Amino acid sequence: MADARMETKLEIIHLTELDADMLARLARYGRDALGESALDEWMLPVIARYGLLFVGAAGGEIVGSAEVIRCMGDGDLYLEGLYIRPEHQRMGYGTQLLEGVMKLLAGKDFIRLLVTLAPDNDAGRSLYGNAGFSELEYLPVHYGPERDRLLLAAQLGSGARS
Ligand SMILES: CC(C)(COP(=O)(O)OP(=O)(O)OC[C@H]1O[C@@H](n2cnc3c(N)ncnc32)[C@H](O)[C@@H]1OP(=O)(O)O)[C@@H](O)C(=O)NCCC(=O)NCCS
Repeated sequence: MADARMETKLEIIHLTELDADMLARLARYGRDALGESALDEWMLPVIARYGLLFVGAAGGEIVGSAEVIRCMGDGDLYLEGLYIRPEHQRMGYGTQLLEGVMKLLAGKDFIRLLVTLAPDNDAGRSLYGNAGFSELEYLPVHYGPERDRLLLAAQLGSGARS
């Protein structure tokens, strides 16, 4: 059902440095959304400085984040994680964040954006399917027992909905 907040436009901000407060907040937001698979205080600064760390803000508040690294040896990027904080989910922010990040990454000589997803993650399957991702490979026990993943990919520049 339509929610007034669905129409709120997400501002996508590229963070390259994190002060102590932002680091603590992003670590907490990630854990709230992703649990044990979230990036922690040891990895978030690495992504910010050497990869690409984006946050999505609406109404002056950070509602989600996306972390991107470059794949060695080819022209692909890997979306390490993308989440919307639980209290802000199902309002269209995930779609805005993913498609906004893909637009920012398009036209920079990168070919594809890869991501892995738990096979039973229905929200993720809808999100990535809508944004033009297709399944490349099944990765059994990718993160250990009972942690299989699907590897998905989208072409950058032509995958996102306009
Ligand atoms: C996946 C996630 C980012 C989606 O964010 P969101 O803001 O709720 O997404 P949107 O509101 O833009 O909805 C995107 C699609 O997902 C669907 N969806 C959202 N939550 C859902 C749920 N709990 N169950 C089933 N489908 C869901 C929506 O219906 C929509 O699909 P549609 O347009 O075909 O109807 C969010 O659920 C999340 O952060 N989950 C935990 C982290 C995660 O799984 N990240 C993805 C793997 S890296």
